[in-house]
Amino acid sequence: MCGIVGYVGNRDCTKILLSGLEKLEYRGYDSAGLALIDKNNNIILKKAVGKLENLKKEFIDFNIYCSTGIGHTRWATHGKPSVINAHPHLDSKERFVLVHNGIIENYSEIKEELIQKGHLFHSDTDTEVIVHLFEDKYNGDILEAVKETINIIDGSYAFAIIDKENPDMLIAARHGAPLIAGENENERFVASDVPAILAHTRKIYFLDEMEIVLLKKDSMEFFNFEGKKIEKVHNNINWDPLMAEKSGYDHFMLKEIYEQPKAIRETLFSKLEKDVFNIKDLNLDNIHPDNLRKINMVACGTSYHSCLVGKFVFEKTLRIPVDVDYASEFRYRDPVIDKNSVVILVSQSGETADTLEAMRIAKKRGAYTIAVVNVFGSTMAREADGVIYTVAGPEIGVASTKAFTSQLMTMYCLSAYLSEKMGIAVNTSSVIKTLKTISPMIETVLDNLDIYKEIASKYYKATDFLYLGRGINYPVALEGALKLKEISYIHAEGYPAGEMKHGPIALIENEVPSVFIINKSSLYKKVLSNLQEIRARDGIIISIATQGDENIAKYSDDVIYIPDVDEFYSPLLTVIPTQLIAYFIAKKRGCDIDKPRNLAKSVTVE
Ligand code: AGP
Repeated sequence: MCGIVGYVGNRDCTKILLSGLEKLEYRGYDSAGLALIDKNNNIILKKAVGKLENLKKEFIDFNIYCSTGIGHTRWATHGKPSVINAHPHLDSKERFVLVHNGIIENYSEIKEELIQKGHLFHSDTDTEVIVHLFEDKYNGDILEAVKETINIIDGSYAFAIIDKENPDMLIAARHGAPLIAGENENERFVASDVPAILAHTRKIYFLDEMEIVLLKKDSMEFFNFEGKKIEKVHNNINWDPLMAEKSGYDHFMLKEIYEQPKAIRETLFSKLEKDVFNIKDLNLDNIHPDNLRKINMVACGTSYHSCLVGKFVFEKTLRIPVDVDYASEFRYRDPVIDKNSVVILVSQSGETADTLEAMRIAKKRGAYTIAVVNVFGSTMAREADGVIYTVAGPEIGVASTKAFTSQLMTMYCLSAYLSEKMGIAVNTSSVIKTLKTISPMIETVLDNLDIYKEIASKYYKATDFLYLGRGINYPVALEGALKLKEISYIHAEGYPAGEMKHGPIALIENEVPSVFIINKSSLYKKVLSNLQEIRARDGIIISIATQGDENIAKYSDDVIYIPDVDEFYSPLLTVIPTQLIAYFIAKKRGCDIDKPRNLAKSVTVE
């Protein structure tokens, strides 16, 4: 939910840290701050409310050489967005400075104790207690002080601390929030995520849970929470930093919508070897296919919607029951999970707190856990028993698009792969052949944006939208509604079309647009009758229909056509128009599409 970045080395680091924060702004943008140590061991601390550009204004004429520093971009959890609550935070003697991503659950009792000891707090944040507690425990050994601090705080955290009296070092620790480290000759980095430092180094270390890293400009040491030194191997990240840039699009979201043909093609091909499914890292040998009696799927948000599509895919292909849960519900409903269970957790970031904890609960109960993630080296990727990567490349826009369709592609690949393992007769070569046709089909949908601009001009002032579909496209209705509400702030609901007459149809008026997913399918006639029920009550109808279906135009105010595709694979296509409807309506409304209010790309707190 927040982004942290740190540097110690022999270069002037102000610009390095500010550009690192740019790459982390998708994680939260309520406020930002930078703390630097100059060559006279003075701390220079600047913070600003709102987006990073406000902090950058504080550095316009800044030219003091500083080669140690930490930065932070915030998604507020405790304490409203304000300069005083913005990180970094100082201890009482203004010697130590800290940035933090996460939540300290026992901060109020710690704060009370420290106030009794004479500590003076300035902010309403939970974070501030960490640096004061560190100060209270510090007796000259920075590692010992961190050890004692982390033994007291509860919650999730990735934090970094610098000390103006030891300006050539930086210490950081993680528990429940992501943290990476990077190195070059004579300089070391820490950050919440790879893009923040990729411009400077591809030599990246992913810290695991309960690990500490001590950086100096010419060394880096890792420790566990007991203070024992540990060896870690680095990863060479081969991402192209440009991939995380907008490449000429107005927004990351539009760029990522247009990257979908490539993302799902690469996701497909990464699962094939000479046109045969071979999903490495799945470690399927650890579960005998005969044990595959049921699948549980767990996720949040858009990833949850991809699991709902996955339910249709797995049940139709494997003929075993599939349960799908919101991770925040799964964690607390005492699920019936045991050593025979296979639990698939889906997460673009691989860091979502609820999904991560759901995975840990499943593992504790003996289940075989499979993580479907988009971020290499993410916590879920490293803790699950098996991993399947979506190969969508970095997804920066808060509204998930290419990750969603790549997750769907993964479901089709995994179900075909499992069917082979289970000896179920599935014509996988025809599955592969069909899946290869999807990318070019998406390209045709992306060809013409005029219809979306027209829809946006007609309906951008609507206050309510309905999204309706049936069967395997019911989850797409949910996803379309989420896309619209999270970037345009218009209330939208996704519903099974057949449910309309059980209540929601009371909402229909002549200013309420209903988006119908009414592609050619076994349920077409059913969906058409639901559409006509709304039409008969003057509801506005926007149809997403199959090329060549002229009939539907008679009942619709607007029709968006998609190529003719088998119903079973249609969510890969039907979702694209819902993404573009949301994008162009939000754009027409002047919303901040890549950084919608109150949201963040990775929800690493509960
Ligand atoms: C999707 O557009 C939203 N930004 C959000 O629902 C997201 O899908 C959810 O927070 C889960 O994130 P994850 O896939 O990284 O776990």
